[in-house]
Amino acid sequence: MVGRLEGKVAIVTGGGSGFGAGIATKFVQEGAKVLIADLSQENGAKVAQSLGAEYLAADVTKRSDWEALLKKAVDSFGGLDIVVNNAGTTYKNKPTESVTDDDFDLVFNVNVKSIYLSSNVLVPYFIENNRPGSFIQIASTAGIRPRPGLTWYNASKAAVSNASKTMAVEYAPKQIRFNAVCPVVGSTGLTHLFLGKADTEENRKGFVSTIPLGRGSTPKDVANACCYLASDEAEFITGVNLEVDGGRCV
Ligand SMILES: NC(=O)c1ccc[n+]([C@@H]2O[C@H](COP(=O)([O-])OP(=O)(O)OC[C@H]3O[C@@H](n4cnc5c(N)ncnc54)[C@H](O)[C@@H]3O)[C@@H](O)[C@H]2O)c1
Repeated sequence: MVGRLEGKVAIVTGGGSGFGAGIATKFVQEGAKVLIADLSQENGAKVAQSLGAEYLAADVTKRSDWEALLKKAVDSFGGLDIVVNNAGTTYKNKPTESVTDDDFDLVFNVNVKSIYLSSNVLVPYFIENNRPGSFIQIASTAGIRPRPGLTWYNASKAAVSNASKTMAVEYAPKQIRFNAVCPVVGSTGLTHLFLGKADTEENRKGFVSTIPLGRGSTPKDVANACCYLASDEAEFITGVNLEVDGGRCV
């Protein structure tokens, strides 16, 4: 059976853990050639090796690392079709008046500047090669239906969704699609920071009680949504904010 992403090349940032590892796994299963980009050499290389994917150490807040990722995708796989901007971070849930300049800069650099740099470096590649492209940003329900104690994380994710919609209309004539996926809370490397306490079933109960389908999101849920948006089945879909949230944002 032909995979839904057969013949496509994808960069998945933050592919060494959590949702990103799930996305990379699904994409490989569906026939894509995947380049995992992650700050963590240990995790990124491990996931890549287990999948038969490629790995490049990269900090998504650095322009030169995006240039290296494009070169690696072209050199290793002959081109680029899909970019999943999944790498993200947060500070620990706390009263907004106690957020530091470093907390603020961290979330806006990793969550928002990365989207700016990825488009700045990669969009010219798609235009110059007259090649359709699909950008998928992992935003969050936090940008739509925010919870307290995470003001600047929430705001960074709203910026991601807005930038994605703007680029969707700007680059539609070039057949470059931009969509955002908005997961509700899951259980990943970031969850203890969202909760402000250990990531246990007990501690997640408060968040989960606000999700109509009665559970948090999983890497598989997020990966399935990304696979659809990356595939040709979604060739007429651009500018959406796809909530993967069991009804949380209704
Ligand atoms: N976990 C949740 O509940 C939840 C909910 C909604 C959205 N999200 C979003 O999902 C995305 C994935 O996070 P996750 O929950 O899987 O967390 P995670 O911590 O398990 O994975 C994040 C990955 O990103 C990498 N990373 C962090 N900063 C980086 C940088 N500067 N350059 C390159 N890689 C970097 C980390 O090394 C890690 O491998 C994030 O954008 C996050 O905001 C998470």
